[in-house]
Amino acid sequence: MVESGRVGSQNGPTRESEASQEVVAMIDQTEADDSTYFGSVAESYDRLQPIVAGPGYLEGLTMMVDLVPHEREEAFRFIELGCGTATLSCRVLERFPRSTGIGVDSESAMLDVARKKLASYGDRFHVREADVRTCDLPACNLVFSSYAFHHVAPEALHGVLARIADALKPDGCFVLLDQMKARTPWGARLAGQGRRIHQQHVAAAIASGKAAQAEVDARWEFKRRMKSDGQDVEYVHVAEDILDEMLAAGFNEAGLVWRRFASTILVVFMPGE
Ligand SMILES: C[S@@+](CC[C@H](N)C(=O)[O-])C[C@H]1O[C@@H](n2cnc3c(N)ncnc32)[C@H](O)[C@@H]1O
Repeated sequence: MVESGRVGSQNGPTRESEASQEVVAMIDQTEADDSTYFGSVAESYDRLQPIVAGPGYLEGLTMMVDLVPHEREEAFRFIELGCGTATLSCRVLERFPRSTGIGVDSESAMLDVARKKLASYGDRFHVREADVRTCDLPACNLVFSSYAFHHVAPEALHGVLARIADALKPDGCFVLLDQMKARTPWGARLAGQGRRIHQQHVAAAIASGKAAQAEVDARWEFKRRMKSDGQDVEYVHVAEDILDEMLAAGFNEAGLVWRRFASTILVVFMPGE
């Protein structure tokens, strides 16, 4: 899959400088089974993602749990789309002891981590290996998704949103967190501000020993190579366009409720009975 970009093969390293040898070795190690990006990062995902994804990642997840429109003792059924290691589901199950849910993801290695992590919730949570663009969704009260919709192409958005709307019961709610543009003039200076804060966040995590510079570099490099090989494509959606699509899909109340630079939360509701 990523053979064309690999170094350290039988002929030995060719293009990388001395300084990057450690990073290259780590990349070769993670690519050894020719797996996907998320397959390769699954084991370190929970430790590294809050660092490399920037400060909006954990803040966004915390806000999503706060936004769940149910009382603590209420019983409700949820689906997490693109759940990865299911950190969000874990937090919801913890906060709402009578909730039950399903986590859907196409990457088995991420789901393996999720299964182990959430084993103590027993029958309250199940994972399903499936593509969110095509899978059937059972009836539920709440759907949420964090940092997965940027993997869905704009032309597939309507279909996914329509199936979420179909699955949700009256008054059901969909909470979406992801990186999005907004229809405001977003220039180089604003982008620079965001980058600076992100870099400070990563540097602080490395300085405190939460991650090594080499493993952070290895993750960026692996991602860059997959993208240059045409894999792990990421789309930049515009928040207001998604809100329009949500209304067109059958939701009747839709709003942008939280934003930290590009990390954005949209909340939408289905009409009541
Ligand atoms: C950046 S991770 C986010 C994981 C988790 N939601 C979180 O916030 O940490 C993106 C996840 O979306 C999954 N994913 C991407 N495209 C998908 C698709 N078409 N169907 C199902 N899962 C998908 C990936 O396997 C990965 O686990």
